[in-house]
Amino acid sequence: MKLALVRPQERYRESVVRGLRELRDEGLPWHVAVDLTAIERDFAAFVASKLADVKRDIPATHLWAIADDEFVGRLSIRHALNDALRIEGGHIGYDTVPSFRGRGVATEMLRQALPIARTLGLTSVLLTCDDTNARSIRVIERNGGVLTATKELAPNRPLKRYYEIDLTQQEPPTSSRSTTSP
Ligand SMILES: CC(C)(COP(=O)(O)OP(=O)(O)OC[C@H]1O[C@@H](n2cnc3c(N)ncnc32)[C@H](O)[C@@H]1OP(=O)(O)O)[C@@H](O)C(=O)NCCC(=O)NCCS
Repeated sequence: MKLALVRPQERYRESVVRGLRELRDEGLPWHVAVDLTAIERDFAAFVASKLADVKRDIPATHLWAIADDEFVGRLSIRHALNDALRIEGGHIGYDTVPSFRGRGVATEMLRQALPIARTLGLTSVLLTCDDTNARSIRVIERNGGVLTATKELAPNRPLKRYYEIDLTQQEPPTSSRSTTSP
């Protein structure tokens, strides 16, 4: 499976809706609120909103991971940090569609995103991750993430890990690992 990170486009409507439904059904807090009915009703508007996203004054570049013409994951690069993102969220966030997990999708998405972050002018990126999220920890560390801090944000929540990836050392993109086929 060859993976490409692309800007949101209407041609992926069917598999994006399917993937977003899988993510919503999984119950992750940042997906449960997604209004799939509205997205299906006006997919063009959804694409447009992803292409011009500026939340709380922080612009973001949203990218979709496409393999075999199908949406398999999503990744966002925030162009800057604010206080909230410094605590949780960082510069880059990602999800792999549940039925495509464990095949190297997130590792490859992040690998391809780093040179893009560099072209946005970032010289290092912050990634935050729960201490219990072994998969994401692996994804970040495989991409050169250096653990800089671990903090308790609330007593009833997992510890939060803070990673930094230095982009000044970024090589031009070449494939470091091939994703495995379904
Ligand atoms: C975290 C997430 C993005 C990983 O996506 P993925 O495409 O399955 O990740 P990959 O296949 O690239 O890599 C996962 C790594 O974790 C390893 N892994 C898989 N299951 C694991 C487990 N239970 N414990 C430890 N490591 C595990 C894999 O072996 C792989 O490491 P490897 O490359 O050394 O073999 C995905 O699980 C997800 O979308 N989770 C929900 C959203 C989320 O947590 N986003 C990140 C927020 S920080």
